[in-house]
This record gives sequence, structure tokens and C-alpha cells, in this order.
Amino acid sequence: MIRGPIPSGAPVFVFTDPGIDDALALAMMASSSRPRMIGACGVDGNVPSRLASANLAGLLRLFGAGDIPVFQSAVNDPAHEYPVHVHGKNGLGNIKIVKPRSPRGQALPLVDFLKSRGNFQILSLGPLTALSDLLKKSPNIAAQISRCVIMGGGIVRGNVTHYAEFNIHSNPDAADDIFRSAIPKILVPLDVTEKVKLYPEDRKELQRSGRRAAGMLAGMLQFYFNFQKKENGFYGGYMHDPSAVVAMTNPELFEFRRAEVRVDTTGRRTRGRTTASFSRNGHANTWITTGVKAEAVRSVIMEKLLGHRSD
Ligand code: RIB
Ligand code: CA
Repeated sequence: MIRGPIPSGAPVFVFTDPGIDDALALAMMASSSRPRMIGACGVDGNVPSRLASANLAGLLRLFGAGDIPVFQSAVNDPAHEYPVHVHGKNGLGNIKIVKPRSPRGQALPLVDFLKSRGNFQILSLGPLTALSDLLKKSPNIAAQISRCVIMGGGIVRGNVTHYAEFNIHSNPDAADDIFRSAIPKILVPLDVTEKVKLYPEDRKELQRSGRRAAGMLAGMLQFYFNFQKKENGFYGGYMHDPSAVVAMTNPELFEFRRAEVRVDTTGRRTRGRTTASFSRNGHANTWITTGVKAEAVRSVIMEKLLGHRSD
């Protein structure tokens, strides 16, 4: 019996809305040689897409990956509420980073860049607006996408409303498009990512590491921990996006089930809710992580952030 998705070494394109947990996930990806990050796009989510792309370019430069092409999603939702209380006004816990003037890669439209890259996988760490738009404008790209690893959703509950998680709640119609698509998907929802946390001692270890990037991440985590203390009563941080990276690189640390995942796009109170049907009726469209070795994932995250592991 197949117990999970087949690991893939295909190169990775990242959609991200940095975002403090995105920053940690990008640091992990920048140190990974397999799979290799080939490009990334800043999307509207934790911050507007223009700031997300600038943060992305600055972070990749900080992590020694300034040669990776950076793109900016064209779409911003004017009604979107940015969670400045979670990630700070600048999206990075108000820690200042040097940002390149004109991030590389923008000269080339994203679709042309991806068309030239053959087979690749997607890592989605923010709302699915840009990915959904890309597939609408260039449906043939889907044939190049070997799989899409998505941080998002919450089966038991959400984190924006009781029902809806932020990445899905930000654009439920885009998320519904992706779950209805034939692209092989892996969903890493809150049910799993809220079990993986960093703690004050982890933050201190990053601070004491003597590594500049780790020190900057420790500064960002201070803001994130303060939010969690106020919101959830513990001084630590949920590792949402970093857990999605580990689900891609170390699937053996997770339990997976095939499910039919659907997004509620119409409910007045439940819009943005993700439901997972595990019945065996052959309509399954997604591998969903249902369990996690949280402590093992936490140590993989720390090893990668400290540069002790670059697989
Ligand atoms: O709900 C958590 C997700 O929303 C994470 O990706 C976080 O960065 C925010 O984008
Ligand atoms: Ca994110």
C-alpha cells in the first residue's frame, strides 16, 4: 500500500509572502542543494506583493542566494487585510535588511521563465492567487509541474476565522482552482504545522551562532514570538512554512493520506474553509499530511537554519 507521495528531486519554484515564517523557509531552501530553488515570486499575503518581492530579494541576498531570479505577482487585492500584528509593518518583524534595487529576473515575464525550465515542483507558502492566475493564463505550464507542495488550510479549524486559514482565506477562489486542477498536490495544513514550534532556546541558539543571517532571523522571531504570546499564550512560534519545506525534503517525518480536498468559496461564515474527504471513492486529489514527528521536524529546521544540514 502506498503510504505517501514519492519524494521528488525536481527543482523548486517558490511562491511566498515574506513574512517571518516564510523567511525561515527561504533560508532553508537557499541552503538546499537537492531539491534546488530555481526562482521565487513575491505574492500578496502577509504584505503587498511589491514589498513581498523586495523582502524576498533581500532575504535571498542575505542567505547567499542573490543569483536566484525574483518575480513579483501583479495581483493585489485592495480589500485584503495585511496581518501587520503577526509579521510587522515591513513583514520581517521590523528587522531591516538590505534590498537590491532591481531584483533579478523581473525583466523576463514569469511564464516565459518557467516555460524554459522543463520539469519543476512548486512550493506555495502564501495565498494561491499568483499560481492560479499563471495557470489560467498559460494552462500548458501545468504539464511541467511535477507536484505542488502547499502550506495552507486547516481541517479542524482555521486561524483567520474559526473555519479558514490565512493562505486560503486570502483568496478561496484561487485555492479552489488549484485543488480542482490535475496538478499532483501535497497539502500541509495548520493541523500539522501548529504542532511544529520553535522556542526561546532555539532563538537564542540562532542569536549565538555567530552567523549573520541566523542572527537576523532571531531578531524577526522576537516579533513573531511576542505575537504568539499575546495571541496563543505561548512564547514561541508556529513553523507553518518551514514545516512545508521539511514535508518536501523529509517526507518520512510525516504521515500522509489521500483525500479529496475542497474549498468553501460561498459560505458567509465558512468561506475559505478547507474540507478533506478520506473516503475511498477515487475522487482523492491531494496527499494531505495528517501526522508529524514534530520534534524531528523542529531539529531539521534548526539544523538547516544553523547551516549544519544542506541536503
Ligand atoms: O496560516 C499560516 C500561513 O499564512 C503562513 O504561510 C504564514 O506565512 C501566512 O502566510
Ligand atoms: Ca507565508
